[in-house]
Parts: sequence; structure tokens; C-alpha cells
Amino acid sequence: MPRKKLNLKKSVRLYEEAKRFIPGGVTGIRRPINFIPGEYPIFLKSGKGGRITDVDGNEYVDLLCAYGPIIIGHREKMIDDAVIRQMKEGFCFNLPQIYQNELCKIFSELIPCAEQTILVRTGSDATTGAIRIARGYTGKTKIIRSGYHGWHDWCVEVKGGILPKTYEDTIDIHYNDIDALEKVFGQYPDDIAAVIVTGVGHPLNEPVVEPTPGFFGRIRELTRKHGSVMILDEIRTGFRISLGGAQKRYGVTPDLATFGKAMANGYCISAISGKREVMNVVTEGKVFISSTFFHNSLEMVASIETIKFLKKNKVIDNIWKKGEKFLEELRKLTENYSDIITLSGIPPMPFFTFPRDDAGKYKERRVRFYTECIRAGVFMQPYHHSYICYRHTDKDLNQVLNAVSDALKIIREV
Ligand SMILES: Cc1ncc(COP(=O)(O)O)c(C=O)c1O
Repeated sequence: MPRKKLNLKKSVRLYEEAKRFIPGGVTGIRRPINFIPGEYPIFLKSGKGGRITDVDGNEYVDLLCAYGPIIIGHREKMIDDAVIRQMKEGFCFNLPQIYQNELCKIFSELIPCAEQTILVRTGSDATTGAIRIARGYTGKTKIIRSGYHGWHDWCVEVKGGILPKTYEDTIDIHYNDIDALEKVFGQYPDDIAAVIVTGVGHPLNEPVVEPTPGFFGRIRELTRKHGSVMILDEIRTGFRISLGGAQKRYGVTPDLATFGKAMANGYCISAISGKREVMNVVTEGKVFISSTFFHNSLEMVASIETIKFLKKNKVIDNIWKKGEKFLEELRKLTENYSDIITLSGIPPMPFFTFPRDDAGKYKERRVRFYTECIRAGVFMQPYHHSYICYRHTDKDLNQVLNAVSDALKIIREV
């Protein structure tokens, strides 16, 4: 039996109001169209641990974790208290505070490539900064990329408002496609400034895949051979799949890497880390990276506390163990449905996608599946993988398993 539709009246009212003052009411990926319109809430009110509550009072297990920053859980006391203490001392000054040293030192201890680190604000700041450093260092032009790297001109998918010359030197390849990589190096042997790829393959609406053995290794070889920079975009994998990132887990040391999301449990900070030799273009002032808010310290304090918490509580181990068990249960639930649903991912990042069928029923199955889940109090994103956080309890994850089990029966009827 399909579950009852949620009461979303307040969300809908606020959305109508928002549309008067904000283009589209909500910008970017949080727009209702990116969920199931009419079924998902549009405004959230609060969160605690692994759960969130919307403005109408509906509570959900949060499996999207704010698209990745929530690694421990919402409103983690140790982190928030440290931020509040810092707020009382001040955090927006003419000159840096000591926390930048502390945080960048922690990076250098944990992350293989992080001889030096520059702290910025968003993931897009970090990836664009890394590209600029790579071009400044090599004097070359072209970028090979694979994955989502943010909303800036050189890489965003939606091209409206962007001059072609800002992205025409960016060449897209599929994740794990070594042939394509070699082909591009063959075409432009002397003009590849950088190869930037994500730590795990996670294209929107496609199954999540780990790097195949040899993918990172081949990138490393080709970038060395051709005098290009290897950049690992660890915005999603950093501080989530290992304390040393995907580079530690998969045994490759890139020249540069970008971090964000999980590094501060929700506070807005990101980082470009890399080899001193490459970073020298910034030291020498040849490449300029600066912004009014880059030095604000609240987020640095949050990140230092987050990483301390991750270490002290063995958070990454906890998430892998919990995620493995969860993924195993999901595998059992979906094994008789493999014709209509695909389970992919790694334990910290599970995902359901819907294989295309000639009759086009997969779209309806996706709508019905995620509709049943949200009605059962499970917040996932229909086109984006989920995340497991430290504060997800057995009760939370069992609620998800029950919701999935019921939803599968319903989509079999489509
Ligand atoms: C791998 C990756 N790189 C870069 C970005 C851009 O980060 P932001 O949205 O913070 O600008 C994202 C965001 O989802 C991402 O997943």
C-alpha cells in the first residue's frame, strides 16, 4: 500500500513567497525540481545527529547530509561550542589568526600530498584555485577533467552566460576511461596543464564507482611524462573515505588536491593542498588567490575540532563498518529487483539508480521509489548518492531499510 502524502503546507507557502524575492525561489541543486516536486519538503527547520526536521514538523533520517559536509552529525556540541568560544574573541580581522597554521599543519600530517595548504571557502574556490596554480606552474593551457568540480566557468555543465573561451580548453573524459585519457595526451602532448579527477567516480544520476586499478596510476605516469599536474578533487572523498583522503586509500600521491565538505562538519571552508614545488607559484606571487573571507577563523576552528573528533572517535572506521553492514542489507533487499534498480557505491556513499528501459518506465519507478521513501521519513536525493554519517544510529538505518523494502514492492507494480 502506498504511504500517505506528507503535510507540506508551510513549505509550499514559503516557496510561493520565495519566488517573489529569489529567482526560482531557491537556486541551484536545492530547487524542488531536483527532488520529487510535491512530495519533498522545500524548507528545513533543524537537524540533530542523523535526523532533520522540516518547517511542517516532518522528521527524516538525513541520508543526504547537506550534500556531504555533515560527516559527524548535525549540531555536534564539541564543534559548535568551539565555534561559539571563538565568536566571542572575534573571527574577521585584518590579519590571520593562529588557526590557519594549526589547520594546515594537521593537513600536512594526514594527507600525503599536503606539503602546503591554502584555505579557501567553497569547493569551487578550491578546484578553480588548483587549476590556476596548475596553469601558472606549467605555463600550459588544457585541462582534462572527470567529475563534478563546481560551478565556475571552466567546468560547469550549464553553459548559459559563459564565454566559450573560458571552457574550450577543458576536456571531459569518463571516469576510469584510460583510453580516452591517453588519446587526449596523444592529441596535446605539450599542452596539458592538469588532469583533475574526483577521488571516487560519482557523476550525477549514474552509479558511484571506485577508481579501477591503474586509473590513478596511469594519470600519475602521463602527467609526470608530459610535465602536467595531477589534481585529485577530494571535495567529497576528503575526511570521509579516509583521513588521508582517496589518495591515501588508493595509494597515489597527486601534485595538488582539493578538500571541502566533510572537513568542517558543515562549516564553510575548503582547501587546496599540494607539493611545495607546485605551490611555489603562489609563494612567489605569480598566481593570486585571495578573498575577503578566506581568513575568517570560525570555520578553521570548526575544521580543527572536526578533525580532532574524527580521530578521537575513529569516525571513518565507524562509518565504513556501519556502511558495509547497511550496504549488505540493501544488497539482500534489492537482489530480486536488479532488473529495475541498481545499487552502487562504497559503504560511506551508497546510491540507487534506475536502469533505462525501452518503455521509459524507469522514470516512474524512480519517482515512486523516492516518493515512498520520503513519505516514510527517509531523505535521499533521487539523482545523487547518499552519505552515511557518524551519528546515524541502527534505528535510523533500519528505518531506511524498512522504507526501501516497502518501496521496492511498490515499484515492482509499475
Ligand atoms: C567533487 C566536487 N568538487 C567540487 C565541488 C564544488 O563544491 P562547492 O559546491 O562547495 O563549490 C563539489 C560539490 O558538490 C564536488 O562534489
